[in-house]
Amino acid sequence: MLRKKILQKYLIITILLICIYYTTLKFFAQLSDLVILATILVSLYYISPAYISNGLAVIFGKNGHPIDFKKNFFDNYRILGDGKTYEGLVGGVISGFLLGFSLNYFVNQTIIPLIIIEPEVYDMLVTYGFFQILMNISLISIFFISLGALIGDMVGSFIKRRLKFSRGAPVLFLDQLDFVLGALFFGAFFISVNWLCFISVILLTPIIHFIANIIANLLKLKKEPW
Ligand code: CTP
Ligand code: MG
Repeated sequence: MLRKKILQKYLIITILLICIYYTTLKFFAQLSDLVILATILVSLYYISPAYISNGLAVIFGKNGHPIDFKKNFFDNYRILGDGKTYEGLVGGVISGFLLGFSLNYFVNQTIIPLIIIEPEVYDMLVTYGFFQILMNISLISIFFISLGALIGDMVGSFIKRRLKFSRGAPVLFLDQLDFVLGALFFGAFFISVNWLCFISVILLTPIIHFIANIIANLLKLKKEPW
């Protein structure tokens, strides 16, 4: 069964990525489990507006108007395709910004004060550059991470159409990474992250994407597990 094969392939890739991520941080970068946990949390927090805008574009974009006005590119294939709509883009960016900002407000009010009074945790976060990242997150960086995600997603669709993949066809790693690469690129103009967070976002995103899709499929929220 084709479907079972794809699911098996995704599961194996997910397990491999988890192993690569953990062994790289643990044995090559020599990080303790506490530092690895902090790396994961800070990276996901930093990139969360991108996850939100990319995830909610699906809801806002349902039956929306295509950004490319249904026009073809020089190769006579659609520029972007019906999967990229104005409603998805605007709704996604605004909700990514508003929810990202709310999360930021909550973390600044509740989590940061707890970190500051705990010298061991505070020192660790400063040593690895995480505290600087937490302090540098701003309204403008949240907005551009949210927007950058959906621009990266459109670039991904543009590439898929040039490679003649139809709308919605699964393309391993392009589907999972286009939006975070866009978010990291646009975010980089407003906030500097260290290589640890950068690599973490790139390795953790496909893992989370696969696990979320498999769960959504098992819960029958999503027709296909990719
Ligand atoms: N979506 C949208 N507008 C956007 C991004 C996403 O309307 N700017 C909605 C579309 O309904 C799309 C769904 O979110 O079908 C899922 O997004 P995605 O997987 O990125 O698009 P695909 O339909 O898979 O199309 P493509 O092959 O171009 O990636
Ligand atoms: Mg898709």
